[in-house]
Amino acid sequence: MSENILTTEGLGKKFGQRWAVKDVNLEVKKGEVFGFLGPNGAGKSTTIRMVLTLLAPTSGTIKIFDNEVRRDRASVLSRVCGIVEKPDFYLYLSAYKNLEVLGSLTRKVTRAEILDALEIVGLQTRAKDKVKTFSHGMKQRLGIAQAILTKPDLVIMDEPTSGLDPQGMKEVRDLVLRLSRESGTTIFLSSHLLTEVQAVATRMAVLNHGELIAQGKVTDLLNGDSSYYSISASPQERAVEILREQPWIEVVSVANEVDIQVDASRVSEVNRLLVTNGIEVSSLAAKRTLEDYFLKITEGASEL
Ligand SMILES: Nc1ncnc2c1ncn2[C@@H]1O[C@H](COP(=O)(O)OP(=O)(O)OP(=O)(O)O)[C@@H](O)[C@H]1O
Ligand SMILES: [Mg+2]
Repeated sequence: MSENILTTEGLGKKFGQRWAVKDVNLEVKKGEVFGFLGPNGAGKSTTIRMVLTLLAPTSGTIKIFDNEVRRDRASVLSRVCGIVEKPDFYLYLSAYKNLEVLGSLTRKVTRAEILDALEIVGLQTRAKDKVKTFSHGMKQRLGIAQAILTKPDLVIMDEPTSGLDPQGMKEVRDLVLRLSRESGTTIFLSSHLLTEVQAVATRMAVLNHGELIAQGKVTDLLNGDSSYYSISASPQERAVEILREQPWIEVVSVANEVDIQVDASRVSEVNRLLVTNGIEVSSLAAKRTLEDYFLKITEGASEL
């Protein structure tokens, strides 16, 4: 058995003629908090829905605990807790009753355990209230209470703090960290906020326009050797074509300059490649860290 809890290979989803998610290879390791970072519309929810078998992929495979999810759906998903945009609760039942019902799907849960889970997420005083009276943030916290109670091996959360005020965001982040530290649960969570991923995750993947642009340890990606370069070249269109043909070069964005990711040891090769193809290169400079890139793509300043 590999140490990967979740692996996707070549995962893709096409809606009509458009790939919303394309060739995504994720590796989520046991016990980590994994951040799935991407701006609005990047394809985070689509990916998560495929992982949770709510949506059929157009291409690729998804393995959880080394089992193909679509083949071993029931056994795999019984060990996974998905907290997606609208957590699936029985709106006309109380918070307590919801946890009792959801908790007992996997094992016998006691009253003390349910009350304990509600207390951890700060909902003990609302235990008897119907979930339909809950705010968005309270439902998110109830989702976490469910995860605390059912002790799944993997928790998947789609933007758990979205729509919450700063205090609510902090509470949810603290709960994520607590769940991870106290239960060793592997947590996969999506976010469009770099600061959020930095606050909770040890590793992350960055998604833009449906494609992964980076994956690795958060600290390495943010502080590591910059392998990002900006090129001013003319004619730019032809330069982009040539760069895209190279498997060792990743064209990250095209605006006034062409931004690429390439191994630092091969930068001079990039220059040579362009020049020998008749492209005039007026500048080629190591420029941005992944952080700058991410801020740039979330601001919508660049288009691929
Ligand atoms: N059912 C659908 N039919 C057609 N297009 C869809 C469908 N679901 C999602 N898309 C498209 O797929 C792309 C990715 O959407 P997705 O919801 O996965 O992004 P996201 O990263 O979760 O964004 P957000 O941060 O806004 O939640 C978008 O262009 C979206 O319009
Ligand atoms: Mg989404």
